[in-house]
Amino acid sequence: MSRPTLRTEFCDRVGIEYPVILAGMGPVAGTGAPVATAELAAAVSEAGGLGVIGGVAYSPDELREQIRYVRSRTDKPFGVDLLLSPNFLVPRRKGRRADSSADKPALRIQLPEEHVAAVRRIALELQIDLIDAPRENEDMGSWVEEGKSWAGSQVEVLLQEEVPVFASGLGTPGPFADALRANGTTILSLVGTVRAAAQVVADGADYVVAQGTEAGGHTGRIGTLALLPQIMKSVTPTPVIAAGGIAGGAALAGVLATGAEAAWCGTAFLVAEEANQPDLQKQRILDAAAEDTVVTRVYSGKTMRNIRNPLIDAWEREGLMALPMGAQGALMRDLQYSIERAGRQDLLMNAAGQTSGMLTERRPAAAILEEMVAEAAEIFANGLPKRIKASV
Ligand SMILES: Cc1cc2nc3c(=O)[nH]c(=O)nc-3n(C[C@H](O)[C@H](O)[C@H](O)COP(=O)(O)O)c2cc1C
Repeated sequence: MSRPTLRTEFCDRVGIEYPVILAGMGPVAGTGAPVATAELAAAVSEAGGLGVIGGVAYSPDELREQIRYVRSRTDKPFGVDLLLSPNFLVPRRKGRRADSSADKPALRIQLPEEHVAAVRRIALELQIDLIDAPRENEDMGSWVEEGKSWAGSQVEVLLQEEVPVFASGLGTPGPFADALRANGTTILSLVGTVRAAAQVVADGADYVVAQGTEAGGHTGRIGTLALLPQIMKSVTPTPVIAAGGIAGGAALAGVLATGAEAAWCGTAFLVAEEANQPDLQKQRILDAAAEDTVVTRVYSGKTMRNIRNPLIDAWEREGLMALPMGAQGALMRDLQYSIERAGRQDLLMNAAGQTSGMLTERRPAAAILEEMVAEAAEIFANGLPKRIKASV
């Protein structure tokens, strides 16, 4: 059978067959590794899309290993996604030894008593015995060398390995844009507002990824179809990629028709065979209806869309303002660790988008991608559906 054709200028620029990108999804609870590992990224790239490794939590050595793994599985282009929020850009200060544990107490974040008490109440309500989580990596990466930042050390690897595409998930590519571009890397930058879009373009993004609130994981408040044309208008001539709520051919065709160069898809691939998600988490996504996701700050301090669970409900009932990113994670660390140790999968973080409601089966990533592309190609190739009449 012949393969459908569906191409945009983005495909030509990065050398891929289809304008579908695997979102660079980071770690999920209970696995310690990203959903979008090298295995999933390689599968998507090999199938004709662009696979992107969710690299945020990898040390430089691990990241290098993952990049090389993709290259061992496919000779097609791929990318790496990192988070460039200020937390990840702070260089380690002089006097902190990377492997020291003696100075750990000084590094502990002082958490408000009110919040700590709320977490104890929530643990009691959920019948979780609170135990202390290991503290080794509390200051974000014992592997970071003095004078270097977390993200900076990772970007160094991207430069050395000549990764074709880089995506910044949070923050702007500014500090690294010149070096990456000079190295031949195409830079994508995720945003959820029109204001942020202008900023990332000024800071060196080649493509803006406009992510609507439908998305799984960290997300904003504006829907994809409202956000996309507004961002396009504000950043033109910079090309835009659409994200949030795209898990089928009709949505893919819709965003391409709106003028997007490609679709950046996360939730659709969460239930791929190759996705690094515990089976139970995949099943919860398959079982979920569109209404079963909620946006919460409980896990990271930033708004994040998840499959609803009793922990999220208990946190919301407390009515507390979440702490800033970093501090909120520190607040929740022991509870999350205790939940994992207790095997309470029903309480684990399970980031997923509103398209969870339309996913019905686990399949290889290639099958997910091929179906989306075939449906979208059919819409464009056969013209408008018969019930629509149009002329100009
Ligand atoms: C489990 C999960 C983890 C994610 N982790 C990251 C991440 O580490 N970096 C990032 O830029 N985006 C991350 N995202 C957001 C995705 O990149 C993407 O924008 C989103 O999934 C697109 O919307 P969709 O889920 O409706 O397809 C994550 C999303 C999910 C569902």
